[in-house]
Amino acid sequence: MALTKSVDASRFSHRLITWQRHSGRHDLPWQAAGRRADPYRVWLAEIMLQQTQVAVVSKYYEGFLDRFATLAALAAASLDDVMRLWSGLGYYARARNLHAAAQRVATEFAGDFPRDLATIASLPGIGPSTAAAIAVFAFGARAAILDGNVKRVLARVFAIDGMPNEAAVEKRMWALADSLLPDRDIEAYTQGLMDLGATVCTARKPRCELCPFADECRAKREGRIEALPTRRARIALPERCITMIVVEREGAVLLEKRPPLGIWGGLWSLPEGPALAAGGEAAARRFATRHGKFVALERHTPFVHGFTHFRLVVEVVRIEVGEPVAPHADDSGQMHAWMPLDEARRVGLPAPVRKLLDAFAHALL
Ligand code: ADE
Repeated sequence: MALTKSVDASRFSHRLITWQRHSGRHDLPWQAAGRRADPYRVWLAEIMLQQTQVAVVSKYYEGFLDRFATLAALAAASLDDVMRLWSGLGYYARARNLHAAAQRVATEFAGDFPRDLATIASLPGIGPSTAAAIAVFAFGARAAILDGNVKRVLARVFAIDGMPNEAAVEKRMWALADSLLPDRDIEAYTQGLMDLGATVCTARKPRCELCPFADECRAKREGRIEALPTRRARIALPERCITMIVVEREGAVLLEKRPPLGIWGGLWSLPEGPALAAGGEAAARRFATRHGKFVALERHTPFVHGFTHFRLVVEVVRIEVGEPVAPHADDSGQMHAWMPLDEARRVGLPAPVRKLLDAFAHALL
């Protein structure tokens, strides 16, 4: 698309680079000051940063690298180990894809992370914007990123109407992002776009007084900062209600391995049954007594966990069982394991399940 008259491409990139140098972020754990970064470290950071904020990623990043220092170490690890280190970060498909991609790089590219944008983008879990971010930060490639933050910046500075996830609007934005690329300092430019979107041109309460484009931003001039980017009409998310069953015996808790695909795929979790209003308590009791003789049952405070597409209302039933009953075939076909509560809190668990077990562990102390 033709650039608007308000900001021309070279002025845009020049201002952004200058702003990044003075006011951008320079001490993030994955930034390699003054030297070219290791592609493995860059790739890991960009995957963790998809849908997760910098502050959260910073807590996980070094721990993951301590355990898997190289791409070869990650490729050789078991998926269970990878999931354990990812647990709490959410969006677990990212961890499965990361592991699969490491194995592909190890076998197909002799362990050398590919440099070519299209090849990077062909790896599992890497879309076009993530591929470009990796190519920029690891190899200095001249490639455009376009994630949610960048879409917001472009929509405002250039007053682009329409929902950024709609194909036609996205296409315009890709063309604009490509046309704005500078001939040099691509790393500072790319980091500047990310930093501006994350710290100044934020979704709510943007800090326009700090913006290098404050005098030229079309949305600001037209009083449309709140209206851009165009938002989808808010619809209430559907709700699903389940019961989580905490079966305990002598300080050990019964965990269930989730199937590899779907929500929390591949993680250990608590067994689940229908909502209490749909007979969940009796179902939980039937389930528990397949694993030990019934001793006591109590209901706990329910909680809500938000997913992108629905809200999960979780009711909690805790059942103490005594001596084991003779094992018999598990009709659900699920894999179950007894784990001491402390050990259970260290395996790969979804964040809300970990919180629940933490609460039980503290109540026991
Ligand atoms: N978001 C996505 N990639 C990022 C990066 N490299 N630095 C900061 N925020 C990011």
